[in-house]
Amino acid sequence: MAQIFPKWANWIPLIVLGGGGALALTALALLYYYGSPQNTQVGYRPPQPVHYSHRLHPGNLGLDCRYCHNQVESSRFANLPSVQTCMNCHKLILRESELLKPVRDAWENGQPIQWIRVHDLPDYAYFDHAAHLRGGVGCVTCHGEVVLMDTTIQIAPLSMGWCLDCHRNPEPNLRPTDQVVNMYWQPPENQHEWAADFRRKQNINPPTDCSGCHR
Ligand code: HEC
Ligand code: HEC
Ligand code: HEC
Ligand code: HEC
Ligand code: HEC
Repeated sequence: MAQIFPKWANWIPLIVLGGGGALALTALALLYYYGSPQNTQVGYRPPQPVHYSHRLHPGNLGLDCRYCHNQVESSRFANLPSVQTCMNCHKLILRESELLKPVRDAWENGQPIQWIRVHDLPDYAYFDHAAHLRGGVGCVTCHGEVVLMDTTIQIAPLSMGWCLDCHRNPEPNLRPTDQVVNMYWQPPENQHEWAADFRRKQNINPPTDCSGCHR
């Protein structure tokens, strides 16, 4: 469930009761207005119907992100894997595991697993994975060190300010396109020159006008 009010909103009745008055309320309204779009979802980590772990699969086993999210380079959306993808291995590996029972059941019934969405932009904001990967932005920049996560968690605010900070100055976040799934790529010493050159050659111009993201 998305949190509708930030935690500190619990204090509102107390402040009102305490006779803080109009001034405090105005301050609160301002705080809400400037504070809310930035960080309400950071740290969101819903429990999932199966204890699938990125730390184990792409982490310890070294599976490529694109083995499961195989449309991420060609589509706006990063797809989740089908049950069949899990069963490629789990038909043989840990066939008796209790933790994998919901996966086997889904497979036998021909039902998808009902994963809970972690990241979710409002519909009025347009986002495209394929365009970002072509532009040389890595998964780790927006999703953090997914290979260390037992339960997937949102690490970036996904707010308009967050998008624009990078769009106005993308150079520090650019990397060679063959490194976009590498969680441990380090920028070279000449990152700035490299990125400026890459940007020019690839003609990379992230939109900063309203219609770029609100189509
Ligand atoms: C073995 C398959 C598999 C591999 C490999 C894999 N993932 Fe996932 N990923 C999943 C599944 C299943 C989910 C849905 C459950 C969850 O959110 O943990 C998911 C969810 C996610 C989400 C959250 C989606 C949402 O709901 O917002 C992100 C981000 C993500 N993966 C990134 C990555 C990255 C980055 C890599 C490579 C380092 C990777 N994944 C490798 C199977 C995989
Ligand atoms: C490339 C092979 C492979 C794929 C694909 C794969 N797994 Fe796994 N999975 C493994 C291995 C190997 C283990 C760990 C076995 C061990 O503990 O030694 C494991 C362990 C697990 C466990 C822990 C089970 C337990 O009893 O400890 C769960 C849950 C799980 N996987 C879910 C999934 C889901 C869901 C998918 C599809 C999104 C998936 N796996 C795809 C190979 C795979
Ligand atoms: C520039 C930032 C950025 C990069 C780079 C990025 N993502 Fe995402 N990702 C997002 C945002 C924003 C969302 C939420 C999109 C929405 O709600 O429409 C998202 C959502 C997802 C989802 C949930 C399904 C979806 O498409 O909404 C998965 C899975 C995912 N990302 C995996 C990945 C993987 C794997 C990579 C690297 C190959 C990656 N992402 C790179 C920002 C990014
Ligand atoms: C870390 C840097 C970074 C972040 C964060 C980021 N972007 Fe981008 N964005 C880029 C780059 C680089 C491009 C590629 C521009 C190009 O190729 O000309 C791009 C391109 C785009 C495009 C144009 C796609 C197309 O089809 O032309 C849209 C729309 C967009 N971003 C929306 C968003 C939104 C919405 C967010 C926040 C949820 C976001 N971006 C976050 C770096 C970023
Ligand atoms: C780089 C992408 C990007 C650009 C450019 C952009 N926006 Fe946004 N905008 C977003 C995203 C993403 C959200 C959703 C933020 C959230 O969920 O907190 C958003 C949210 C909004 C909202 C809702 C505000 C709120 O507090 O919930 C308004 C209004 C808005 N944008 C107007 C604009 C206007 C006007 C412009 C041009 C000056 C603009 N946007 C340019 C990405 C963008």
